[in-house]
Amino acid sequence: MKFFVDTADTTEIEALAATGLLDGVTTNPSLIAKSGKNFIQVIAAIAKLVDGPVSAEVIASDTRGMLLEAERLLGLGDNITIKVPLTMDGLRACKTLSDNGVMVNVTLCFSATQALLAAKAGAAFVSPFVGRHDDVGFDGMSLIADIRTIYDNYAFDTEILVASVRHPVHVLQAAKIGADVATMPPAVIRALANHPLTDRGLDGFDADWAKTGQSIL
Ligand code: E4P
Repeated sequence: MKFFVDTADTTEIEALAATGLLDGVTTNPSLIAKSGKNFIQVIAAIAKLVDGPVSAEVIASDTRGMLLEAERLLGLGDNITIKVPLTMDGLRACKTLSDNGVMVNVTLCFSATQALLAAKAGAAFVSPFVGRHDDVGFDGMSLIADIRTIYDNYAFDTEILVASVRHPVHVLQAAKIGADVATMPPAVIRALANHPLTDRGLDGFDADWAKTGQSIL
């Protein structure tokens, strides 16, 4: 399973990239606004920090505008993935871009039939938002399972990029279903490494080691 970080904070991205565990980055207009930085500059900077795909989202709502914006964004790095919304215009833009060899991430997916359309449009990634789905009383993970079944039934190679991940249990469930990617806020990636018994165990080992008076080096 690939791990993407969902942020436009370059300090966080740099730190996570240094772990060797990071496979890519996703951003959206809200994350760009939160960063307080210039969109073009921050995407160019992120593209240099990681080797994997960096999703940059178009703002236009019509296909032509999306394609013009995509052209500008693709100039920012070889690893730019164009993120388009799951609308008819977005799907048309996805089809045109993917036919031309561009990686497209179709975002704001909330149903399995939407995901089916994204795959038919040649998307490299589809982003179902599990957290926002849960928030309104639906089961985000059953959406992931349905998409997995459909994609496997027809051997679509569109990758399921689980988005709007709020906690490690989302990652666990997505991995059990066989989702291809999870994009997470930096804090969720770090939380995956935490366990109170690991901390307690280390405290015990440190205390006992100190009693030996030894050192390894
Ligand atoms: C993914 O590409 C989105 O940017 C993101 O996961 C949205 O998450 P949110 O629902 O926490 O805003």
